[in-house]
Amino acid sequence: MRNINEHTITAAVLDRLSDCGDPRLKEILSSLVRHLHDFAREVKLTEAEWMAGIDYLTATGQKCDGKRQEFILLSDTLGLSTLVVAQNHAKSAQATEATVFGPFHVPGAPRLPLGGDMSGGAVGEPLFVDATVRGRDGEPVADAEVDVWEADAEGFYDVQRAGLDAPQGRAVFRTDAQGRLWFRGVLPVAYPIPTDGPVGTMLNATGRHPWRPAHVHFMIRAPGYQTLITHVFRDGDPYLDSDAVFGVRSSLIGDYERHEAGPAPDGSAQAGPFHALSFGFVLEPAG
Ligand code: BEZ
Ligand code: FE
Repeated sequence: MRNINEHTITAAVLDRLSDCGDPRLKEILSSLVRHLHDFAREVKLTEAEWMAGIDYLTATGQKCDGKRQEFILLSDTLGLSTLVVAQNHAKSAQATEATVFGPFHVPGAPRLPLGGDMSGGAVGEPLFVDATVRGRDGEPVADAEVDVWEADAEGFYDVQRAGLDAPQGRAVFRTDAQGRLWFRGVLPVAYPIPTDGPVGTMLNATGRHPWRPAHVHFMIRAPGYQTLITHVFRDGDPYLDSDAVFGVRSSLIGDYERHEAGPAPDGSAQAGPFHALSFGFVLEPAG
């Protein structure tokens, strides 16, 4: 195989993959090669532009560490995460829609009893969440594991704050026998995704804003059901129609009701304003 040129290179690489023993890997790599080559042809990529792309991806990798995942951020801001989630969760009409996972989930969050305070001292106005987890036929899902995470009132997740010695704004709960779940957190606010890395450079260069509308993240797992990864967005947020990562679904917008000082849903007396959210999650059966 010699004298390969711009017209024969794609077939040559595909031919080199012909002995791949893993059919799915072969399908994915072959398609990737075809699309990459077509992309380079379509835009007539120059060597300087190709090198800039390599430098960009290198910087993206170098920005990653145990607490920062710049590749997820890149996938999110290019809409790839939403595409992959949407095409893998063609849900039934009743089930709660999924949305992007994002880079700020941390495995092993504190396990709290129902009614517990997940804020861990995070700044923000109190939020009282009362939720149900049901199956498609309305059956309560008891003992579902519900992983919740959120940013504080200044728009930061705990992993973005240096020097914290305990988690804030994250916890794992389990639903009761009726599939109910209630806990305390802080009112979410809109926040910008991190812009101090290559993704920020791309947003800036393309005239895009980095804001996400206020939301709380949920990951719900229960035997016999598909795992649901989703958010509940805050109604009225100015960024609901221009989310930097394309994650908003109308069905995921919740009413975070504002209350003035007084008795809160957990029986405590609140000296200042607080908020209450009720939301019903519906899981798809597994398989
Ligand atoms: C988040 O909601 O935590 C998030 C999602 C995608 C990109 C950045 C942040
Ligand atoms: Fe978030």
